[in-house]
Amino acid sequence: IRDHCRCPTCFHPETKQRLIETFLELPEDIHILDVREEGDLVQIVSDGHTSQYPRDWLAASALKGKTRAVGRQGTTDETDFKQTPVEVEYAKVMESDEGVGEWLLLIRKYGFAYVNGCPATPEATEKLLERISYIRNTHYGAFWDFTANMAAKDTAYTTLAIGSHTDTTYFSDPCGLQMFHLLSHTGGQGGKSLLSDGFATAKALRDEDPQAYKILSEVPVHSHASGNEGLSIQPFQTYPVLNHDTQSGELIQVRWNTTDRAAIDLPLEDMDLWYKAARKWARQLEHHHYWEQLRPERPLIFDNWRVLHGRSNFTGKRRLCGGYINHDDFISRFKMTNFGETKVLEQVSLG
Ligand SMILES: [Fe+2]
Ligand SMILES: [Zn+2]
Repeated sequence: IRDHCRCPTCFHPETKQRLIETFLELPEDIHILDVREEGDLVQIVSDGHTSQYPRDWLAASALKGKTRAVGRQGTTDETDFKQTPVEVEYAKVMESDEGVGEWLLLIRKYGFAYVNGCPATPEATEKLLERISYIRNTHYGAFWDFTANMAAKDTAYTTLAIGSHTDTTYFSDPCGLQMFHLLSHTGGQGGKSLLSDGFATAKALRDEDPQAYKILSEVPVHSHASGNEGLSIQPFQTYPVLNHDTQSGELIQVRWNTTDRAAIDLPLEDMDLWYKAARKWARQLEHHHYWEQLRPERPLIFDNWRVLHGRSNFTGKRRLCGGYINHDDFISRFKMTNFGETKVLEQVSLG
C-alpha cells in the first residue's frame, strides 16, 4: 500500500504518475504504525512517512479479481443486437461529450451503432470519428476514402462479396472500432452490409459443443497481410480465435479472418480438431447474420473485437470512407464519458 501512496510527494497530482523509486527507496520490512481517518482521506503512517489515500480509492482496491477485470474493460451488459434501431443523432455527438458518451455506450452494449444526420462528406465523417479519439494509421493510411479501384491490393477494394470477418487479425492489437460511411452509390445495386455478433456466436457454439469452443480459445492461429509491395505484416505472437480476459475469463476479443489466416500451430495429428471446430463456428456465424443497406448521412461504427462484418457483391460505383480507432482508446473514452474521471482512476488501484 505504501507503493501506491497518493500523497503529492509520492504521486504527481497532475500527471498521475508515481514519483517514488519503490524498490530502491522504501525499506523492505515496512510496517503500518497507525491509521487515521480525516474526512474523505485515510492516512496511513509507516516507517518515516504518512501516506494518504482517498477513502473510495482505497475501498475499491479491496475488490475481487472478477470485479477488477470488469472495471478495467468498462463492461456493460451486452445485448443481442437484433433489437435495432441502435442510433444516435450526429449533432448531439458533435456538440457534447454527453452525446459521445451516449454513442459509445450503444457501441459497448450492442457492438455497433449508426449516426443519423452526418453530412455525406469525408471531412465531416473524419471529424465525427475524431470525437472518439485520434484515428489509427495503418498501411492503408489513417482516414480512408475509396472506390473499388484496387488502390490497395485487398478484397475490400473490389466489388466482390466478403464473408463475415474481423479486420486486422495480422496485428497483435487488432483495430478496435471501424467506421464505414457510404458517401454515394450510383449506376448499380447490391453491397448490403453484413454484421454478425461474435460474442453471441461464441455463446451459441459453447452451448452446442464446449470442446470446439475450447479448441478455438486455445489453438494459436497465425495471420498475415502481404498484398502490398514490400510489406508482410505478421503479429509478434499468434492468438486463438476466441480471446478471454486472463483474470475474469470473460470473452473479450474475436479474431476471425479467413482471407488473412496463415498456418495453424498444431501437430499434424491434431490439426483436424481445429478444422472441425472452425467449421462449427462458421456454421454458427451463419445463424447470426444481420443485413442492412448502408445509406449516405448514416455512418456505421462497430466494435471490431466483437462484431464481424462483410458485404454482398455490388454493381455500379460506390464511394466509402471511414477509419479505425484503437480498442484501448475506445474503452478509455467510453469509461471517461460514462463513469467519470474519479471512478475510472479508482480502478487504477486494482491493476
Ligand atoms: Fe473488413
Ligand atoms: Zn506519500
